[in-house]
Amino acid sequence: MNNMKIHSSTSWTNYFTKNSSIKRVNWELEPNITKLERNNILKSLQAWQLGETSEGEHLIHAAGKYATEINDNEYPYAVKLFIKEEQKHGNNLGKYLDLIKERRIKKDWGDTMFRKIRYYNTNMELWTIAVITVKSAAQIFYQALKDATQCTLLKQICTDILIDEAAHITFQKERLYIIFSQKNSISKFVAYHAYSCFFICTSLVVWFAHKKLFNAGRLNFSRYFNKMKFKLGKVAGKSVLYNQEERQKPSIIELNRSHSI
Ligand SMILES: [Fe+2]
Repeated sequence: MNNMKIHSSTSWTNYFTKNSSIKRVNWELEPNITKLERNNILKSLQAWQLGETSEGEHLIHAAGKYATEINDNEYPYAVKLFIKEEQKHGNNLGKYLDLIKERRIKKDWGDTMFRKIRYYNTNMELWTIAVITVKSAAQIFYQALKDATQCTLLKQICTDILIDEAAHITFQKERLYIIFSQKNSISKFVAYHAYSCFFICTSLVVWFAHKKLFNAGRLNFSRYFNKMKFKLGKVAGKSVLYNQEERQKPSIIELNRSHSI
């Protein structure tokens, strides 16, 4: 059995700082998107652009409250850098929409729903499982978006996001494990099932909202759903959550090697 490796908050702030200095998108490239591709991806692209543009103040608030409880001053800073990367995704997708002369939307039903959940949520555990779920769907979404276009600029934007998101999932997965480990066995039982249920239900919502894009990226429902179930097992499966923790010295090199998920 592999032991879960937990990186310190300082290790994460170092990682995010280093990652922010790496530029993976060549903005000199002209967008090159066909009419058919545009028709398939536009609605989803606009919705995710809006979703990635959140200010994150509610998450920062929850992280601050939680960090005081667990006595980890560095954690809110790591969360701030994490949110900054999300905003970079929103900016890049927005810049692309501007370049192809499409508008940035202000409202979307899925986004409104998630914003409501975010607004009322001050609990770090709920935040963590929600972020893990959305990010797992995001990995499949951006891969499908990449596969649904021949535009090099859009492909580069997607690759950059995919690299960031892999580390984001590891960051949140470690947090979920830390929170889960502190529960008694009855709470663990309830939480384990609640995480799976939330994850599966959200996966279904994302599928129906972005079916057209997934299909254009050559994903049908069963392939999509199998991928999501596989991801669920990797982040919140029994063998992960009930695993024995191995405290480890922070190391950025280690983090860079192990962040892909
Ligand atoms: Fe993102």
